[in-house]
Amino acid sequence: MAIIQFPEGFKWGAATASYQVEGAYQEGGRGPSIWDTFSRTPGRVFMGDNGDVACDMYHKYPEDVKMMADMGLQTYRFSIAWPRIIPDGSGAVNEEGLAFYHRLVDELLKYGIEPMCTLYHWDLPQALQDQGGWDNRETIEHFLRYAETVFDSFKGKIKLWSTFNEPWCISFLSNYLGEHAPGNRDLQLATNVAHHLLVAHGRTVRLFRERGIGGEIGIVPNVDWQEPYSSRQEDIDACWRKAAWQNEWFIRPVMHGHYPEKLVEWFRGKGVEVPILPGDMEDISQKIDFLGINYYTGGVGKYKENEGLFDWEEVDMGWDRTDIGWTYYPQGLYNFLVFIKDQYGDIPVYITENGACYNDGPSADGKVHDERRVRYIKSHLASVARAIESGVNVKGYYAWSLMDNYEWAFGYSMRFGMTYVDYDTQVRIPKDSFKFYSRVAAYNWFKV
Ligand code: BGC
Repeated sequence: MAIIQFPEGFKWGAATASYQVEGAYQEGGRGPSIWDTFSRTPGRVFMGDNGDVACDMYHKYPEDVKMMADMGLQTYRFSIAWPRIIPDGSGAVNEEGLAFYHRLVDELLKYGIEPMCTLYHWDLPQALQDQGGWDNRETIEHFLRYAETVFDSFKGKIKLWSTFNEPWCISFLSNYLGEHAPGNRDLQLATNVAHHLLVAHGRTVRLFRERGIGGEIGIVPNVDWQEPYSSRQEDIDACWRKAAWQNEWFIRPVMHGHYPEKLVEWFRGKGVEVPILPGDMEDISQKIDFLGINYYTGGVGKYKENEGLFDWEEVDMGWDRTDIGWTYYPQGLYNFLVFIKDQYGDIPVYITENGACYNDGPSADGKVHDERRVRYIKSHLASVARAIESGVNVKGYYAWSLMDNYEWAFGYSMRFGMTYVDYDTQVRIPKDSFKFYSRVAAYNWFKV
């Protein structure tokens, strides 16, 4: 038996995102987003599920915030839907949209729960996509106006901010692999999107400082840890390319002001160039206050000529997988955090998402015994504690997710919540993981 202990002041939180939980897609003056369009496009989302109702948090937020308080959360990470604030992306500000988030934040503050706000968790106003979306550099200017509107409105109330959630998903997953909205399959376009997001990120950070908003601001990449199958150089290089595409492609420009050169060369070999304009790299590398890390999975891989984009193939080691098919690999989180310290020193880190899809539902006793999720969270938290012991500056942890919700292209078929949601009745049932997590949040340690 071991005691896994966290430092005093370590923050315990849970995360969600606007489109995944809010519903009320036509209420309060909200405009359409690319996810409204994508989810209605036949064949894109499992069963054609959409976020029209989702968890109905737009209406049920008082009950949900109370539930967060029962869980003992010290902080809650949520995102603001751009189409609620500026419904067509570039026109008039919708005061009703701002008012909704003020009600939510006030409710959080009432219980002493610190809000962490993500400005962009994937719901781009459709009107901007109609003009090219993030492929169009003008979207950066529209984003800055949206960010400024939100900053000014919540100045002093929200002290933890992040610009973009998972820039790799917004760019490559959505515009090269075509799995998320808007569903393009074009590597050059996806590379443009990635670059424009980074410029928008850096300029938003500068705006945040210039307007004296106060608090902390960072960015949230989703990271991958790839262990080479062997110590052969070609396996090492292939794994580096695969993981760096998600990690270093975004983190290095932000932290060091340049893209990873080897990967830029690799892309050039595929006829793809990063559309860098003078001043961009300086904009991108504005000093951030923290790095948010979303970690779910990783694996073992090796070199295979002409395989995929990176001459890389996964090696199935027979490890456990969660119900969504992702490998269970807690060691990868530890490895990644130590890598961050090696590369980037003492930058404060929040684990902004970590969690697992296990589709357990209520048992005969009416409760949800999600022991596999408890095991997942425990082992990943143990990796975080080990990283802290190793000198990595991890400040807090946000479990994904507070409750089951709309899992993007998987619709409602995949459940990541510590609270079970019955989508027919909107009844919430705290799972066993909810109870485990509330004890950890209260005591700052647990036994394994
Ligand atoms: C995203 C969430 C998503 C979760 C599980 C992350 O990629 O930020 O929105 O639900 O992982 O897939």
